[in-house]
Amino acid sequence: MPENQSVVRIERQEGVAVVTLNRPEAMNAINFDILDALAEVIGSVRFDPEIRVLIITGAGEKAFCAGADLKERREMSEIRVKEFLHTLRRLFSDIEALSKPVISAINGFALGGGTEMALATDIRIASMNASMGLTETRLAIIPGGGGTQRLPRIIGKAKAKELIFTGRRVDAREALDIGLVNHICEPDLLMDEAMNMARMICEAGPIAIEQAKYAIDTGFETDLSTGLGIEANAYRVTLPTQDRLEGISAFLEKRKPVYKGK
Ligand code: COA
Repeated sequence: MPENQSVVRIERQEGVAVVTLNRPEAMNAINFDILDALAEVIGSVRFDPEIRVLIITGAGEKAFCAGADLKERREMSEIRVKEFLHTLRRLFSDIEALSKPVISAINGFALGGGTEMALATDIRIASMNASMGLTETRLAIIPGGGGTQRLPRIIGKAKAKELIFTGRRVDAREALDIGLVNHICEPDLLMDEAMNMARMICEAGPIAIEQAKYAIDTGFETDLSTGLGIEANAYRVTLPTQDRLEGISAFLEKRKPVYKGK
C-alpha cells in the first residue's frame, strides 16, 4: 500500500464506496499527496462493478476540504503550481466522468478547491455547519479546478459571478436556496442521508444509472435536439439488457428486482 494512501481512506460497503479526505489537522486541504491518493482511489473504483455509488467526505467535524494547501503552495515554484493545477483539473474531471454517481457529503468548510471538488460530483448534501465558497479572488487568483465553469452551470451565471467576484462564503441554508446543494441536514445525520440516497441509487439498474448520467451530462452541453438524440441513443443501450426484462418481470411478479448490470 503506498504511503500516501492514508491521506485518503476508502471504505466499501454494499455497493457504496465512502472516500474520506483524511488530513483533518489541515482542514483536509489538498496537497500533492491527497491529489495522488485520490487519483489512485478513483482509478481503483472506476471499473469495479461491485461499486455502484461513491460518497466523498472529509475527516473530522470541521471541514470537508479547505481547498489547496496554502502552506505547501507558498513553497512551490510557478511550474510546480502549474503541475498542481493540471493534476487537480484532471482529477476533478475524472470524478465528474465516472460512470457511477458521486455524492459529496459536505461536513463543514468547503472552500476554493473544496467547493470545486463538490461541484465535480453529481449530488451535494451539506450539513448545517457547512460553509462553501469560491474564495480564490480574495487570494488574487481565480478558481483553477473548474469552478468558473461548473458553478455557473449549476447555480446560473449571475449568481456564480457574484460569488466568485466577492469570494464570499455561503452557509448551508443559502447553499440550498441557490441550488448549490441538493439537501441540508443536521451534522450527525449527514452520512446517513448520503448513505440512504446511495442505497436508493443501488436499487436501480446499473446500466440505466450509467446511461442516465451520460445522457444528462453530455446532453446538457448541447442544444435540445442534439440532447434528445443523445437520450434516444442512451435509451437504446438499455433495451437489449437482461436487467430491463428483469425489471418488468419483478414488477409483474410483485417482487424486488435483482439487477446484474447485464
Ligand atoms: N491550506 C493549508 N492549511 C490550512 C488551510 C489550507 N487551505 N485551511 C486551513 N488550514 C490549516 C490552518 O493553517 C490551521 O493550521 P495550524 O493549526 O497549523 O495553524 C488549521 O488548518 C486550522 O485552520 P484555522 O484557520 O485555524 O481554523 P478556523 O476555524 O479559524 O478557519 C477556515 C477555518 C477554513 C475558514 C480557514 O482556515 C481558511 O480560510 N482557510 C483557507 C481557505 C481558502 O482560502 N481556501 C482556498 C485556497 S485556494
